[in-house]
Amino acid sequence: MSDLARDRFTFTAQSGGPTIVSAEGAELLTADGRRIIDAAGGAVVCNIGHGRREVVDAVAQAMRSLDYVLPTWPTPLRLQLSDVLVEKWLPSGFNHVFFANGGSEAVDSAFRLARQHQVSVGQPGRYKIIGRQPSYHGSTLATLAAGGHTHRRSGYEPMLSEWPKVPWNDAAALAGAIEAAGPETVAAFIAEPVIGAAAGALVAPVDYWAAVRAICDEYGVLLIADEVMTGFGRTGRRWGHEHDGIVPDIVVSGKGLGGGYVPISLVSAHDRIVDPITNSGRIVIFFTFSGHDSSCAGALAVLEIIERENLIERCELQGRKLRAALEDAIGKHRCVTEIRGRGLMLGVGLEGVSAADIVLAALEKDVWIYPAGCGAPTPDALLIAPPFVITDAQIERIVGVIGEVLG
Ligand SMILES: Cc1ncc(COP(=O)(O)O)c(C=O)c1O
Repeated sequence: MSDLARDRFTFTAQSGGPTIVSAEGAELLTADGRRIIDAAGGAVVCNIGHGRREVVDAVAQAMRSLDYVLPTWPTPLRLQLSDVLVEKWLPSGFNHVFFANGGSEAVDSAFRLARQHQVSVGQPGRYKIIGRQPSYHGSTLATLAAGGHTHRRSGYEPMLSEWPKVPWNDAAALAGAIEAAGPETVAAFIAEPVIGAAAGALVAPVDYWAAVRAICDEYGVLLIADEVMTGFGRTGRRWGHEHDGIVPDIVVSGKGLGGGYVPISLVSAHDRIVDPITNSGRIVIFFTFSGHDSSCAGALAVLEIIERENLIERCELQGRKLRAALEDAIGKHRCVTEIRGRGLMLGVGLEGVSAADIVLAALEKDVWIYPAGCGAPTPDALLIAPPFVITDAQIERIVGVIGEVLG
């Protein structure tokens, strides 16, 4: 590929990475023959690993049978995926699934779902979405507005609704923010069970989520769990919120559902949220490509592999090994503040070095790690989130390279 072509496929200078021609397991193969360990699963997407023929075959088969059908009309694959999700994955009482194509679309849809719920139950004054600082919920204007990713919001501020933000670890601050905004104006609170891109696998204190659940209930504010990154096994359980002993009102997920093979995301909610909307005759508008058959086929194949190969258990096991190896190798390094996270979503808190510099140096040594952080005052961090099929030898290599680069 010419330098000119590399410049053409994004607006800004974002295309600085190596040219990847194929991928297998936890490795990416470059055009010039390098094998890069994908220690972040791309952007924390590739949960089942690369190069799975059976997913590709399922998608091809779906494409041979059907190209495009209106998003609101059933197809066998749409119905099958909804059944699998409701019966095997979603919390009890979550009997409706809305498909979209990526995390931002799904979070945006969750906001519209929350709003339509409030209007349908006679609370038309409730429209604000409270978010946390730091956080990342997507790149549409509504998801940027609710998010606390300072760097990614930069330049767009005048276009973003000024919704309240609360510190990521302070439940009492949420109650304060609802009071200050006027409870009759607040539709929902959104949070990531483990904060990903904006902070690098930050886990809230014990009891935080129980307190948040109680506050949302007290004020009639819907609790949205943004599981775009944490969903589908990434934290060593099906959902990130399962670690915290609470059930949100609305769950959003993406990334791992398609495993990197197909663009698909979802919103689901308890019947008590959805039913009033249905009964009032309101709608939550779909996207033209919501639930495309090829995406449903890919997601079904991905979920089948997770189940058959017990990949969530493997994620938990390999996560423990990776964490222990990181603690051993760099836990006491002067630039490392903390090693944290859950399952195979681990963060290395940094001090005195930039995540971008470490990530570039690691990439030169054929290990891809995700640079997390969103600008001061949030400290930078490394986000390490390899596919669940990562081997012990690959874990050793990842940790070795991080040690070398920090050293
Ligand atoms: C927690 C969370 N929500 C939403 C998004 C947005 O997803 P997408 O980039 O697929 O639109 C991301 C992406 O990183 C995310 O991590």
